[in-house]
Amino acid sequence: MSERIDLAALPQDFLWGTATAAYQIEGAVAEDGRSPSIWDTFSHTPGKIENNDNGDVACDHYHRWREDIDLMRRLGTNAYRLSVAWPRVMPGGDGVVNAKGLDFYDELIDGLLAAGITPSVTLYHWDLPQALQDRGGWPERATAEHFATYASVVAERLGDRVKHWTTLNEPLCSAWIGHLEGTMAPGWTDLTAAVRASYHLLLGHGLAAGAIRAAVPGAEVGIVNNLSTVYAATDRPEDVAAARRMDGHTNRWWLDPVHGRGFPEDMREVYGVELPEQPGDMETIAAPLDWLGLNYYFPQTVADDLTAPVPHVRTVRRLGVPRTGMDWEVEADGIETLLLRLTEEYGARKLYVTENGSAYPDVVRPDGTVDDPERQAYLVQHLAACASAARKGAPLAGYFAWSLLDNFEWAYGYDKRFGLVHVDYATQVRTIKGTGDRYAGIIREHRQGAAEAA
Ligand code: IFM
Repeated sequence: MSERIDLAALPQDFLWGTATAAYQIEGAVAEDGRSPSIWDTFSHTPGKIENNDNGDVACDHYHRWREDIDLMRRLGTNAYRLSVAWPRVMPGGDGVVNAKGLDFYDELIDGLLAAGITPSVTLYHWDLPQALQDRGGWPERATAEHFATYASVVAERLGDRVKHWTTLNEPLCSAWIGHLEGTMAPGWTDLTAAVRASYHLLLGHGLAAGAIRAAVPGAEVGIVNNLSTVYAATDRPEDVAAARRMDGHTNRWWLDPVHGRGFPEDMREVYGVELPEQPGDMETIAAPLDWLGLNYYFPQTVADDLTAPVPHVRTVRRLGVPRTGMDWEVEADGIETLLLRLTEEYGARKLYVTENGSAYPDVVRPDGTVDDPERQAYLVQHLAACASAARKGAPLAGYFAWSLLDNFEWAYGYDKRFGLVHVDYATQVRTIKGTGDRYAGIIREHRQGAAEAA
């Protein structure tokens, strides 16, 4: 894979990062005062996760974070997107703060900064304290309020060193997959609960954004959404309308309210669920954003299917389109389309690709190395598409590869490997894959180009 990418349009101070999430890598689920989250409960429920895997040990990052920072350094990255585990910091979800939980992140941040790596902190990557779930979880307004309290505790402690903050990661997954489809924690299949959860997640985002800004002068606050390009399977009007619904469900429901446009009317009709709106909420939800985060993996093609649950669509497999080990279509142009859409339709002033990557079955050679040409091709194609979006005017300020390490891929357990670094779960030995080396080369090339241009 020797294809060169024209990186000249990416700014000199571009953030080249990797991303992870607490429950997927930390392990140590019962150490130093951490309480169970909804993902501990879900993953310990037989049959919910492939091979009945769970995050009890994961990549043991809680103990091996120094080694993991060293890997970031070897990759040449200058940024790292991590998430804070709410149940480590506030085991009951609200109230008492667990000092040891905060100490862990405090040390981690210091370690990153000492290595010249800018931390980007996500406050919620799906690990709601079980104690709050027991009180109703995201369908309840109080959860949004507790989220803001937790946000201010973390921001007050880390805000002297962390300027880059994300409130929520992929609220779509928490609301739709967790409460409607039921294949993620908490595993519900209840449309009313799902819509209420979506509302309170975004309310929590707005409240937390205010809490972060109050605690951290100069904070840059954003939200991270997993968006998709959506195509109609045919040009029949029914399928075109289905694609519009899927776009509403996947993209507009999450983007419109935070941009002050309210929840899309067409989707309110599709869901038919009354929103738990109180005066002032929509202003809170539309708190100013310093940047928008895009997690991009795959496009979606849909056909009308009124027998299917909301949004009444059927996913259609396109023939001849390559797929990853997740069975997700590979279409690099999608990332460019979405970056330009966020720029033109939503007026984004600053964008980050906060996640992008691919899982493929890795083959470890006898010498322990991992050659992963398909993942490498995915990376190169998507970075080329990002650079193209930047050339066309998207204000792209950074790219975070998903993921630094192979890790606990939620309902898929450990079988699906997204890492730039291979993890042997039996020994916890980490080995940089071919894609990791390629990423390091691209970063070097961009830095050289930037230095020559300066
Ligand atoms: O592993 C996940 C991550 O937690 C959220 N975004 C998508 C990734 C791959 O499925």
